[in-house]
Amino acid sequence: MTTIRDVAKLANVSVATVSRVINDNGYVNENTKQKVKDVVRKLNYRPNDVARSLFKGKSKMIALFVPDIKNPFFPELARAVEDISNKHGYTFILCNTDNDPNKEMAYLHALLQKSIDGIILVSNTMSTNQIKDMNVPVIALDRKISSEIISVTVNNKEGARQAVQYLRKQGCKRIAHISGPENVSSAKGRLEGYLEEVKNEKWFASDFICTGNYTVDKAFQSTKELLQRDAEIDGIFVANDLMGVGVLKAVESLNIKVPDELSIIGFDGIELGEITTPSLTTMAQPIYHIGKRAAELLIQRIGQPGNAIKSEEHKVKLIVRESTIERGGNNE
Ligand code: RIB
Repeated sequence: MTTIRDVAKLANVSVATVSRVINDNGYVNENTKQKVKDVVRKLNYRPNDVARSLFKGKSKMIALFVPDIKNPFFPELARAVEDISNKHGYTFILCNTDNDPNKEMAYLHALLQKSIDGIILVSNTMSTNQIKDMNVPVIALDRKISSEIISVTVNNKEGARQAVQYLRKQGCKRIAHISGPENVSSAKGRLEGYLEEVKNEKWFASDFICTGNYTVDKAFQSTKELLQRDAEIDGIFVANDLMGVGVLKAVESLNIKVPDELSIIGFDGIELGEITTPSLTTMAQPIYHIGKRAAELLIQRIGQPGNAIKSEEHKVKLIVRESTIERGGNNE
């Protein structure tokens, strides 16, 4: 197969000159340009994408790192990033990291080898310095990394406050919280919002908070412990909808009636919450929109590195379903 070196040798120019002619970037005098083009045609040279990306630094590839591909929130997010990437001519690459820093770094090295054009990170383990050392455009999505890294997130703390205020408005008197992982910024924001709403209540004690890890099983166990410890609890704010499924399972195993005896509200707005029994009231994130915005900001950063872009925080919205009673009887 003809290589770029064969073209350079026959045209008696450097490989870099051939690359500038192929990729039409940088100055080449007209005679030399024509000579290279004649040799390309003569040898029937077809630059491959790797060769092109080595010289152009553009692979036309964008990657999204997610921490748990089994959590339905992330495929919904990935769908948006893929749609926008493809719309702008980029190949989309999805990397599932299992929240494992070693897996993150392994993906990172592999992608940098292939001259990845930009990365969208959902990560709570990668540091600002690691990201800066990559020397590749990065957008943090869903989870802030630092003020130095542009991010697209939602109003986790305010959304949590609204969730607790809603339960209180529906008549709940003792509200517990199944929190997300302590080291995840989205979980921290939701815990802060819950605490701001309940910390001055007479009934509140720290054991009204059970730490979850955003998965069904942990939430199932935590909820059983919580409700066996305090049967007076009549409302639970769960830090994400997937754990909300675990809470519903636990409550069913204890023969507690939802929402008559216990109201439950989640966070995320994943489609799964529509088909649980009862269906799950939730603080819905604009999942597709935040994925779309992260991809648009990254593509903007890739195309115009000098242009200033800003972090964005989007608002969650209450969606009332069957796991909470809407006072006044209408529970649609
Ligand atoms: O369900 C997964 C959770 O992790 C979501 O709440 C999302 O915000 C992410 O932080």
